[in-house]
Amino acid sequence: MFPSLRTAVAAALVAVAGVQAAPQTASAAGNETSVAGTRACNNSPSLCGRQYNQITYLGAHDSSFLRDKSTGNSLAGNQFKNATDALDAGLRLLQAQVHKPNSTLKLCHTSCGLLDAGPLESWLAAVNGWMAKNPNEVVTLVLVNSDNAPASDFDSVFQRSGISALGYKSTTTGPTGNWPTLDTMISQGTRVVSFVTNIQYSSSMPYLLPEFDFVFETAFEVTELTGFNCTLDRPSRAGPATAALSKNFMGLVNHFKDQSLGSNILVPDVDRIDVVNSPATSADGNLGQHLQTCRTQWNQRPNFVLVDFWDRANPIEAVDSMNGLSATTGRKSASSSDRSTGSATNSRNLEYGAMVAFLTATLLLV
Ligand SMILES: *[C@@H]1O[C@H](CO)[C@@H](O)[C@H](O)[C@H]1NC(C)=O
Ligand SMILES: *[C@@H]1O[C@H](CO)[C@@H](O)[C@H](O)[C@H]1NC(C)=O
Ligand SMILES: *[C@@H]1O[C@H](CO)[C@@H](O)[C@H](O)[C@H]1NC(C)=O
Ligand SMILES: *[C@@H]1O[C@H](CO)[C@@H](O)[C@H](O)[C@H]1NC(C)=O
Repeated sequence: MFPSLRTAVAAALVAVAGVQAAPQTASAAGNETSVAGTRACNNSPSLCGRQYNQITYLGAHDSSFLRDKSTGNSLAGNQFKNATDALDAGLRLLQAQVHKPNSTLKLCHTSCGLLDAGPLESWLAAVNGWMAKNPNEVVTLVLVNSDNAPASDFDSVFQRSGISALGYKSTTTGPTGNWPTLDTMISQGTRVVSFVTNIQYSSSMPYLLPEFDFVFETAFEVTELTGFNCTLDRPSRAGPATAALSKNFMGLVNHFKDQSLGSNILVPDVDRIDVVNSPATSADGNLGQHLQTCRTQWNQRPNFVLVDFWDRANPIEAVDSMNGLSATTGRKSASSSDRSTGSATNSRNLEYGAMVAFLTATLLLV
C-alpha cells in the first residue's frame, strides 16, 4: 500500500513545514444584547443565572488542527474552521493538543513534524482577543499536555498571552458541585476555565486545573456509528460514570468518529459527518441521540461535548436542546463558509492523508 514510504514521509514532512500560526487578530462576534435589551450570557439570557456546571458546552475537538489551505487540506486536520470562528458560532469549549518539541509549547497534532499549528501562546492570544471583544462570554479550554510539560510552562505562556488574567480559580482542588453562575464569573472577570492534563495543581497558579481532577470523559477513537456510549473511559479511578457524577465530576462526551484507512491508520471521518454531527435523535451515531442517551443514563445533562468539523450539520442545535434553549442571540452563522471543504474526495489528498495517518499509527488523536 505504501510503495515508497521513506519518500512519502519526507514529502509529508516538507508539506507540513509551511504551516504556521494564524495572525493574532480576533474577529468580533458582536455585542450580545437580546432584542428586548436583556443581557445574554453565552448567547442566552437564560444562562446568566445558571451555574457553570449545569450547562452543556459544545466544543471543537482539536480546535487548532485545521483541514484547510493552511495545512494543504491535511487529513490529520479535525476542523475546517479555526477557534475564533468556533467562538463566533457559539462554541464555548476549545480543545487542543500541546507539545514541547523544544523550550516552546506548541500546538501540534500527534507530533510537530506532522501538523504544527504554531506556538500555544499565539493561539491563546487570539482567543484572549476574542474574549476582550465579547465580555459576557464564559469559555472553557481543554489542553492535552502530550509531553507532560510542568504547569509552570503553561503559566508562563498563559501570562504572556494575557489570558491568565481571565482564568477562573477553583476554590477546590477536586470535583465540586459548588460552581458559580455565569453571571458571577462574568462580573468577577474569571471567564476562562482552563483544564490541562498531566499537570499538578499549584496554589501559585490556581487557574490551571488538572483536567481529570474535575472532569471525566467517554471513549474516543470511535470508528463505528454504533460505537458511541456514555461509559466512563478516563480517569478510571473516578469509577463508573454514575459514581463520578455523584462525586461532582463533570462529564465530557467525546463525539467524533474516526475513519480507518487500514490497520492502525485512523483519520477524522468527514464522510459520515452529516450523521455524526446531526442534532437528530433517530439514527445510530447522531449527536442528538448520544447526548440524550447520556442525559438519561447520567440523570443530568452532560457538561461538555467535543465534535470534529463543527460547522457541519448544525451540532449546536443538539446542545441548545440539552440546555433547554429555544432561541439564542449573538451567534454568527456557521454555514457562511466559503473555505475549502477539504473533503477526502481528491485522491492525491487521500494519499497524502494516508501517509500522514500512517505516521500517526500509534498515536493519540485526542
Ligand atoms: C482564525 O483565523 C482568523 C483569520 O485568519 C484570524 O484572524 C484568527 O486569529 C484565527 N484564530 C485563531 C484562534 O487562531
Ligand atoms: C454592548 O451594548 C450595550 C448597549 O448598547 C452597551 O452599553 C455596551 O457598552 C456594549 N458593550 C460592548 C463591549 O461593546
Ligand atoms: C523552538 O521552537 C520555536 C517555535 O517553532 C522556534 O522558533 C525556535 O527556534 C525553536 N528553538 C530551538 C532551540 O530549536
Ligand atoms: C463504549 O464505547 C467504546 C468505544 O466504542 C468501547 O470501546 C467500549 O467497549 C464501550 N463500552 C461499553 C460498556 O459498551
